[in-house]
Amino acid sequence: MNAFVTNLMSKMTLDEKIGQLNLVTGGGQTVTGSVVNKDIEANIEKGNIGGIFGVWGTNYIGKAQEMAVKKSRLHIPLIFGLDVIHGHRTIFPIPLGMAATWDMGLIEGSARIAAKEATAEGINWVFSPMVDIARDPRWGRISEGSGEDPWYGSQVAKAMVHGYQGSNMKNADAVMACVKHFALYGGAEAGREYNTVDMSAIKMYQDYLPPYKAAVDAGAGSFMSSFNTINGVPATGNKWLLTDLLRKQWGFKGFVVSDYTAVNELTNHGLGDLQEVSAIALKAGLDMDMVGQGFLTTLKKSFKEGKVTQAEIDQACRRVLEAKYKLGLFDNPDKSIDPAREKNEELTAEHRAFARKVAEHSFVLLKNSGQTLPLKKSGAIALIGPLADNHSEMLGTWVVAGEPGKSVSVMEGIKNIAGNNVNILYARGSNITDDSLLSARSYFFGMRQIKDKRTPKEMIDEAVETAKKADVVVAVVGESANMSGESSSRSDISIPKSQEDLLHALAKTGKPLVIVLFNGRPLTLTWEDKHASAILDAWAPGTEAGNAIADVLFGNYNPAGKITATFPRSVGQIPIYYNHKNTGRPFDGKGAAKFKSDYIDISNDPLYPFGYGLSYTTFSYSDVKLDKTALRGNETLKAQVTVTNTGKYAGDEVVQLYVSDPVASISRSVKELKNYQKISLQPGEKKVVTFNITVNDLKFYNTQLKYDWEQGQFIIQIGANSSDTHSASVQWNK
Ligand code: NOJ
Repeated sequence: MNAFVTNLMSKMTLDEKIGQLNLVTGGGQTVTGSVVNKDIEANIEKGNIGGIFGVWGTNYIGKAQEMAVKKSRLHIPLIFGLDVIHGHRTIFPIPLGMAATWDMGLIEGSARIAAKEATAEGINWVFSPMVDIARDPRWGRISEGSGEDPWYGSQVAKAMVHGYQGSNMKNADAVMACVKHFALYGGAEAGREYNTVDMSAIKMYQDYLPPYKAAVDAGAGSFMSSFNTINGVPATGNKWLLTDLLRKQWGFKGFVVSDYTAVNELTNHGLGDLQEVSAIALKAGLDMDMVGQGFLTTLKKSFKEGKVTQAEIDQACRRVLEAKYKLGLFDNPDKSIDPAREKNEELTAEHRAFARKVAEHSFVLLKNSGQTLPLKKSGAIALIGPLADNHSEMLGTWVVAGEPGKSVSVMEGIKNIAGNNVNILYARGSNITDDSLLSARSYFFGMRQIKDKRTPKEMIDEAVETAKKADVVVAVVGESANMSGESSSRSDISIPKSQEDLLHALAKTGKPLVIVLFNGRPLTLTWEDKHASAILDAWAPGTEAGNAIADVLFGNYNPAGKITATFPRSVGQIPIYYNHKNTGRPFDGKGAAKFKSDYIDISNDPLYPFGYGLSYTTFSYSDVKLDKTALRGNETLKAQVTVTNTGKYAGDEVVQLYVSDPVASISRSVKELKNYQKISLQPGEKKVVTFNITVNDLKFYNTQLKYDWEQGQFIIQIGANSSDTHSASVQWNK
């Protein structure tokens, strides 16, 4: 690779080198900023473009690639990127939903299928995974990541990178992953999109950086720099971040692309005019400029004025060319341009079946009083709600090539599973929202659901009459797809008012009320938790939504998903996450509360803690058994629990291991997730679950940012979620 790229670069002019650093968009639904590129064809010929994103299909991509390879002077192929976030044509649950599966096989498998489908339409580079840790559900992009935990987020990052890149990126069905958004994008103040990030070094290293590092270790080929500032320096122009940390400390060998016009936006951050900020970004270690063309239009001038060096331009160019080499594009620029694959490998029955399985595993049963679920396949069901008979909202946010017309609605799913055995009585009940502001913003890419012209009262009255005729009410409610995702921060994270009014009226009928919830983020569900009989969190399940939901509602699959982001009781508790510090005046909910760390109007506890999720069956956990109570150095500790299925249904359970370090040189989190196992148990069956714990599970970043462990006592906790664990203590000395 080195020799090949060196040889190629020896023939390149300065302009051609700078051309490789230019990434343009073909437009369409992937425009996420105010600038769109023009004159793409002419610029390909001139060698002014290194890659194109936002377009797919062998026809377009085939022509563009042909132009680059035949008409540009040095015949350098283009790289074709796309936002393939949770599937390409076959859409999987939104990433936050996929994370709730706690099943790396399913997560990696979904990325593998996405890669197959994307490459069958000419794509060789995907802007995924998003591995940003998020502890603030107001932030709309919490939906695109795997939640709040650094260890768990690292497992997901690894699985996604492996799934996309496959065994060899040269394969025709492999894409290069682009890990985003580097870095700390999820730490935006107040959960407001693109907002400032200011964070201590320990918090950064301990809680926010691990998933990016895990993606580097998994061999990710590229990274995307984020929009936010980090302690005053914007990520896109941040040399410490892009060079010292990413390359020198972590050994990353791929290339870094900016986010959409993020180089230009350095001027808004106050770093100078376009020429200045482009030089800053290049010098910081950014290799490719997405959309804004600051590199294309200013780097030559900066070079002539001595503001950037030949070596800096060469280095960026080399990294982009290396990516193309790793993808095998120099040997076979058309490797993914195969109309036969395009025809036969999209949305296949096999892919759909896999998507259905992933969706079933992603659902989280938040409440199920009196065993309301599973439903019987008999009697009358009132199927109510603006999301009950809908196709497009099933797919969730960021589905560039997803096809709403091919998704399964909840109504169709219920008919498919229950057939004629149940009598389905349908009423829409409300619009998704009647709030004009929320409505306009959450339908930015077009109105996905036509508003019902009736008044809210007329719709609710009809729904109530329908409910009265049924044995059970299934209310399919929540957020529309675009209420989460980019530029969709919310200050109020409850179910939109029009639908809450509907739920209140339905609850008054006294019929068992099952809520099937659509959401791109944790929502505040205090009323729902009190008044609904059952709540099934379905996130946005993707193409197979309705089938998967019906499978679970009727008990064909017993839900086992567990949330990976804490559900607060109220927005006022945010940020709220399980691995918080203790404070000097902790409040455990008992005794006098005055002068303790708490609120005077609400408890500290979340509504649903990290790792929480119910099942149709019940599991009991034994006490934790340790094979030793005192250890030294690199010994391994075995911790065991026996988990018994004490209920009537076969079921899966995610058994979670947490470790606490009560005395250390810095104040440590109250507990940290270190491992888990997902097991299946028949009714009455028990299994011994064993975890091996090593000193790696005890390490943390100290004030010198040294990653090490300190001897002393450790509490080993195993349980069903972060708030429900059994524990045992161990002394571990150096
Ligand atoms: C902006 C988003 O922040 C990023 O996630 C996405 O990949 C790019 N736009 C390209 O569409």
